[in-house]
Amino acid sequence: PNPVILDCDPGHDDVFAIWLAAGHPEIDLRAITTVGGNGRLAHTTYNARVVTGLAGITDVPISPGAGGPLVRALSPAEWIHGANALGGPDLPPPTVEADPRPAIELIRDTVDATDEDVTIVATGPLTNVAMFVRTYPDRLARISRIVWMGGSTGRGNVTPYAEFNCWCDPEAASIVLGSGPPLTMIGLNVTHQALVTQDVIARISAIGNRTAAFGVELLNFFNSTYETDQGMPEAPLHDPIAVALVAEPATVTTVRTRLDIELHGTETAGATSVDLIDQLKREPNADVATGLDVERFWRLVEDTIRVLA
Ligand code: BDR
Ligand code: CA
Repeated sequence: PNPVILDCDPGHDDVFAIWLAAGHPEIDLRAITTVGGNGRLAHTTYNARVVTGLAGITDVPISPGAGGPLVRALSPAEWIHGANALGGPDLPPPTVEADPRPAIELIRDTVDATDEDVTIVATGPLTNVAMFVRTYPDRLARISRIVWMGGSTGRGNVTPYAEFNCWCDPEAASIVLGSGPPLTMIGLNVTHQALVTQDVIARISAIGNRTAAFGVELLNFFNSTYETDQGMPEAPLHDPIAVALVAEPATVTTVRTRLDIELHGTETAGATSVDLIDQLKREPNADVATGLDVERFWRLVEDTIRVLA
């Protein structure tokens, strides 16, 4: 299995990323780090502790990282995820403690503790990952790749052209992109194919365990805010697709291309510029997702929830 560090901001879809990473046999989830994004850090860290314990994931250290973006102010996505970043279900008290180490130290120690190269899957703003690459450049050779849910080859979801994770901390995304380890971007152009239909909810509900029941409450809330805010009654379950790509690579199609991050646009800050037809004649620097095997993805989500508590 692939040693994986999951950096996240739970957040409804991040929860499914955690569960997929913990439940899939091809992934060895070594650490979870949290970042301010969908909610403030206190919430995203608390939520990570709740949803791991609830699913019976008790052996993965969880460390809080950056409270907010490197240079911008944090605007938590309350309009989608609720005031505590995990609206919907009543949260049971967490049974898992946070690790005392800050996120970037947990990432360093996780890398140092193994001879294998480690994959970082990031499903929030890239603030922690940027801080790690700046603080521990000597460890970068040990990162086999960074797989990030963020950006879009097309339109955005916070502004017409910017996706939330990129919009939140574009400077961090830009630092990570140029840092060395291969970067795979999974953007809205693909995640908007993973829609939470009534059939998906019925299938997860039928699993019948505690994790599935909690998951269904999350999905119903997520669909309701997506309907109100984005006009999408079937929400896209973005984040677990980044984990799916590591677990079963054939689930996601990618192309090698040029990716740049818009830092300065007056209307487009945080947009991703993806040069799919090589107009700029620049060196390709990223793998960008362009397709999803939707049925296989949902089967993965289902199968991994089934093995949890
Ligand atoms: C991304 O933003 C967050 O709201 C989700 O958790 C996902 O990571 C989608 O734009
Ligand atoms: Ca997220």
